[in-house]
Amino acid sequence: MSFVRETKLSVIGAGSVGSSLAYAALIRNSAQRVVLYDVNQAKAEAEVLDLAHGTPFTGASRISGGSDIELVADSDVVVITAGAKQEPGQTRLALAGTNARILEQLMPRLVALAPNAVFVLVTNPCDVLTVVAEGLVDLPPGRVFSSGTVLDSARLRWLIAEAAGIASQNVHALIVGEHGDSEFPLWSDATIGQTPLRDWTDEAGTRLFPRERLESLTDDVVHAAYKIIAGKGATNYAIGLSGARIVEAVLRNERAILPVSSVLHGYRGIDGIALSVPSIVGARGVERVVDVPMDDVEVALLHRSAEALGESLKLLQ
Ligand code: LAC
Repeated sequence: MSFVRETKLSVIGAGSVGSSLAYAALIRNSAQRVVLYDVNQAKAEAEVLDLAHGTPFTGASRISGGSDIELVADSDVVVITAGAKQEPGQTRLALAGTNARILEQLMPRLVALAPNAVFVLVTNPCDVLTVVAEGLVDLPPGRVFSSGTVLDSARLRWLIAEAAGIASQNVHALIVGEHGDSEFPLWSDATIGQTPLRDWTDEAGTRLFPRERLESLTDDVVHAAYKIIAGKGATNYAIGLSGARIVEAVLRNERAILPVSSVLHGYRGIDGIALSVPSIVGARGVERVVDVPMDDVEVALLHRSAEALGESLKLLQ
């Protein structure tokens, strides 16, 4: 009987983000096998058990896990969510030192166990940690990247969809740059269906997205996580779904264009910094970053984001 090799996703960290990502992956059937690893055996075991009990209602995906890191052996995708999380009011960049040290322990062991895997950083600050992680291991370009602004772009798309009364699937809008305070929307490319966002009107012909509306939408996206953290202590559902979406693009070799964050080389003059720009994501991870049209203001904002991330990286070295 020929066995078809199962696709294997390992999630590192069984906190609220890692458990939510595993949950999303089970419901969406992102991978045939899902492994949830945590240094805390009791926590990993409990999360796995609680997730497994729901699998009669999900697809064919199977979940297992625990505190033995060998469980991640031969994974196709490893998503790293382990680390300190933002406290209310704390920036993501403030977590860089603590979480870089966790990566120093983790990355070499994970790559030794899963040498052919694609590694996706979700732990924050995900852009800075992408540079750190890539520097800790010797993998081909694109095999280490982060979820970047996939979540932020989803937040923006939802906000626009709500304002326009249109399905969010028909809203094409991107947040690029740092997954953090210096991120910004690419308004010049944003559309609802085929209509440029700036031209979208309601039934009465009133433009719905004048400049001041765009500014408040940007503010709502940049501050979304702070608001949620203040209310419930952490964000988890939407980042879990964002991670599952990225996993699918890799495992299905979709070559989907997603605003993930990988180390750039000569992108609009940016070198050695990881930040989000539209990227082709497939079986080999980030296969290519896409040079999208940007006006002068947007290029300047991209450089401002790169500078903020560069400063944070310098503090780590
Ligand atoms: C957020 C976390 C994942 O933006 O950084 O919700």
